[in-house]
Amino acid sequence: MNGYLQVNSPFGKLRANGLYAAMQKRKMRMNWTQIGNLEDIPRQGSRVVNTAAGEIALFRSVDDQVFALDNRCPHKGGPLSQGIVHGKRVTCPLHSWVIELESGNAVEPDVGCAHRHEVRVAHGVVFLEVRAEV
Ligand code: FES
Repeated sequence: MNGYLQVNSPFGKLRANGLYAAMQKRKMRMNWTQIGNLEDIPRQGSRVVNTAAGEIALFRSVDDQVFALDNRCPHKGGPLSQGIVHGKRVTCPLHSWVIELESGNAVEPDVGCAHRHEVRVAHGVVFLEVRAEV
């Protein structure tokens, strides 16, 4: 196909090249799973994906960056997806710990870390790297 990769997706057969094709190739190695569209996640909001390994919260910043963390606060397991997204941080709805979306680390003086997951956006489509089936 002369540099194009043909991909079967929920949207039909896609022909892609460049970054998208590279991601599709990487998907095979890294178990990237297509989970939806960027527009499905509200800006400064979140959505939850249920996996065999538990809930993963996807957050979208005001500048359209997407981050993925376990939907469990490192303090006492509060649902981070129901927190307030501000910049690249989310404030837990239970006791107001602030969690860095890029690393999952709690902001000082609190100490703890929410497990983060690799997430990529290509052409408005969101891919999540998970070890279990979505
Ligand atoms: S459970 Fe999140 S701050 Fe307490």
